[in-house]
Amino acid sequence: MAKPLRLGLAGLGTVGAGVIRLLDTNRELLRARAGRDLEVVAVSARDRAKDRGVDLSGFAWEDDMTALASRDDVDVVVELVGGTDGPALDLARATLAQGKGFVTANKAMIAHHGLELAKVAEADHLALKFEAAVAGGIPVVKGLREGAAANKIERIYGILNGTCNYILSTMEDTGADFGDVLSDAQRLGYAEADPTFDIEGVDAAHKLAILASIGFGAKLDFDAVRVTGITQVQAADIAQADALGYVIRLIAMADVEQAEGQSPTLLQRVRPCLVSKDHPLAPVDGPTNAVVAEGNFSGRLLFQGAGAGDGPTASAVVADLIDIAREEAGAPFSIPQAELVTMAPTEPGHRMERTYIRFTVADRPGVLAEITAAMRDAGVSIESLIQKGSANESGDVLVAMVTHEGQERCVRQALELLDGSDSLTAAPLVLPLLRD
Ligand code: NAP
Ligand code: HSE
Repeated sequence: MAKPLRLGLAGLGTVGAGVIRLLDTNRELLRARAGRDLEVVAVSARDRAKDRGVDLSGFAWEDDMTALASRDDVDVVVELVGGTDGPALDLARATLAQGKGFVTANKAMIAHHGLELAKVAEADHLALKFEAAVAGGIPVVKGLREGAAANKIERIYGILNGTCNYILSTMEDTGADFGDVLSDAQRLGYAEADPTFDIEGVDAAHKLAILASIGFGAKLDFDAVRVTGITQVQAADIAQADALGYVIRLIAMADVEQAEGQSPTLLQRVRPCLVSKDHPLAPVDGPTNAVVAEGNFSGRLLFQGAGAGDGPTASAVVADLIDIAREEAGAPFSIPQAELVTMAPTEPGHRMERTYIRFTVADRPGVLAEITAAMRDAGVSIESLIQKGSANESGDVLVAMVTHEGQERCVRQALELLDGSDSLTAAPLVLPLLRD
């Protein structure tokens, strides 16, 4: 048997403790599959005294996690701390500079600095692996880099944030308030240290940017992702969607568009969408994630599983370690980073879609006429319109409509026409209907 792969583990929170438990529980199986032992030798976190429910007595402790990189007894560093920059990035740079492999679950860091790190790793033939950074336990990075590698990928979309999916599906099932459900997601270990990253769609955007780079061979471009989170979605929208035959899910979507004679452009966006109850993403609930990748020969591939939590995320981290133990590395983004293509962002105004629009309006004559006139003037065709119930305590009512398919820019124009109207007592909410 080959020598053990010796690990330095930074971060002993939800995922770090999960990795220690998995390495311990599945020791024999991992030895057989990796062809050698996967052995933690040193760990680091902030608070040495904290009880983490795992036995750390056999491991050396480093107060400064960057010191893991330079230890002679560490072959690979595993970063499970988080943060776009700061200590996690310092550790990644230090580890690669030491000529060692690096495994991380940190999508924020990879979305922002992945190309820089890949450049160093590729130059020195080092492993840089981040399966756990996207969709928790689902092997979707591997799925795109390896399983679907023979395909031209035409579209990638899905549910990439467990916290938002847990919140939306729990609100749907129980009618609970947003805030209460978010606290549950935090308690269960799904949410990021800063949960605004989850609910504002930033976490899903990090993951989408990584998948888009791998899937389309495009240079990582997190700043180009158009992001809308779920904070404006109300229980009333979930109820309206339900009545219309839809659920609401935070959908991340990327595709490449190429007009004749033009360079390809890349559209990446994250936004809450109405998903038909017939669609395979509709029953995806709780912290589950699901990713659809459409390949030109494979057809539609659906990856589904737990998108967050200690066990599933540890499973993805350790899968990367098995690859390293087997000396299966390869370019982190599937093709060498220098060959990834720069793609300008697509301006989606010409895209055709159906849209749900919720207005909060004053309950007085003429308001509906004003809204429908703006729709008419912008060329938006209304498929259905519902004014549900009577005025609430504040005298407002909700008006929900679904449009026929039309260009996105027309809905935008209609809302511009209504901007500043004193009939609208809150900003309208616009949610596209996910197409098949
Ligand atoms: P967590 O529970 O908050 O744990 C973070 C760990 O990092 C803690 O052990 C903390 O130490 C340690 N830490 C923070 N700052 C440090 C520093 N300056 N030096 C040393 N250690 C430091 O976070 P998590 O949920 O495990 O997430 C870890 C990473 O995995 C993040 O990048 C996250 O985005 C990613 N991820 C998480 C999930 C999930 O379901 N939770 C899923 C996929 C990916 P103390 O314990 O001493 O405070
Ligand atoms: N906060 C993330 C989520 C963890 O809720 O999906 C998994 O990446």
